[in-house]
Amino acid sequence: MKITNLKLKNFRNYQNLNLDFSEYKNIIIGNNGIGKTNIVEAIYYLSLTKSFRTNNDEVLIKDNEEFAVIEANIIDKISNNYKIVINKVGKNIRIDNNPITSIGDYISKINVILFNQEDIKLIKDNPSTHRKLINMELSEFNNDYLKLLSLYNKVLKQRNTYLKSMYFNGNIPHDYLDILTDKLAEIGLKIYHIRKKYIDEINSYLDKIFKKIVKKENLNIKYITNYENKTKEELLKQYKKNESKDINYGKTHLGIHVDDFVFMINGKLAKDFLSEGELKNAIISFKLSEIKYCINNIHKTPILILDDLFSELDDKKINNLIGNFKKNFQIIITTTDINKVNPKLLTNCRIFKIANKRIEVKDYE
Ligand SMILES: Nc1ncnc2c1ncn2[C@@H]1O[C@H](COP(=O)(O)OP(=O)(O)OP(=O)(O)O)[C@@H](O)[C@H]1O
Ligand SMILES: [Mg+2]
Repeated sequence: MKITNLKLKNFRNYQNLNLDFSEYKNIIIGNNGIGKTNIVEAIYYLSLTKSFRTNNDEVLIKDNEEFAVIEANIIDKISNNYKIVINKVGKNIRIDNNPITSIGDYISKINVILFNQEDIKLIKDNPSTHRKLINMELSEFNNDYLKLLSLYNKVLKQRNTYLKSMYFNGNIPHDYLDILTDKLAEIGLKIYHIRKKYIDEINSYLDKIFKKIVKKENLNIKYITNYENKTKEELLKQYKKNESKDINYGKTHLGIHVDDFVFMINGKLAKDFLSEGELKNAIISFKLSEIKYCINNIHKTPILILDDLFSELDDKKINNLIGNFKKNFQIIITTTDINKVNPKLLTNCRIFKIANKRIEVKDYE
């Protein structure tokens, strides 16, 4: 999969931007604050209809403007035109000018694997952030996943509302609660199986890649869930056991909405044990594992974006791992300093130099 052209209108600091990418290596160079991550953010937004920096789409619109447009041509066997218009009340998505009404059908069409400073949250932050990030990663590979997730959240909300009304009105019948619990467990199990399969496969690559970069063994992601190896009947029994607690608190305690994904090294929490640099390498190993997952499961080569990776880490081994990727990968790298980029990556590449509101483009042999 390759992005050949990107056009931005009133997106972040860009009034009008038009970039023709090389189908192989692209390097975007510019000082801090010039708008490198904004370009990456636009491509990511096109893939997931969400930013990785904010939940508030309004900040994506250039100051004092009414709407923003992201438009790209993407080749995946054939070339398609993707366009999202963001205005202050919502967004409008089109593929080849045909309106898309279901985001669930749209997401997972464009596969982008992005390394960005924000990714460290996957190891460091709380379970709710871990879930949110894993949900975003998985949605990109599997659009059923997103649909199941929104269905699950709808049923969860209904169940919680019903639990509250049961608390305030003791003689409300339990039958409807049973129906909602049954639905929740059924959808929850499907989500559990997708998450489990994904984490198992990522784990089968993660340790090997990490070992190559850091020389520490046994890195894995522990999937913590109260659905672990349970049948629906067993789950329903657990929900029954928790029923009075659920009613008292007016919320559902069991379910995949409290799952967690924790990076472990030799049985210890990675965030407590590894150094800052090693944690970043753990994230990089995770992203490289995802590339393998993407190729194996959806048979597509994702677009690889490394946002400022080289100012964070100057590890030859990572450079080598990336440099060794097959030629058919499209890579977009942003950096403040071209000297930080491994010379291996500087052959056959297109360089975009941003300065003074101008972009200079040059192809290197
Ligand atoms: N809605 C907006 N309207 C206008 N400018 C904006 C908007 N949102 C962000 N900006 C500007 O975009 C710039 C940030 O761009 P970006 O994060 O892409 O920089 P960068 O090149 O990645 O920098 P660094 O090297 O520090 O990561 C800031 O100067 C910010 O003020
Ligand atoms: Mg940046």
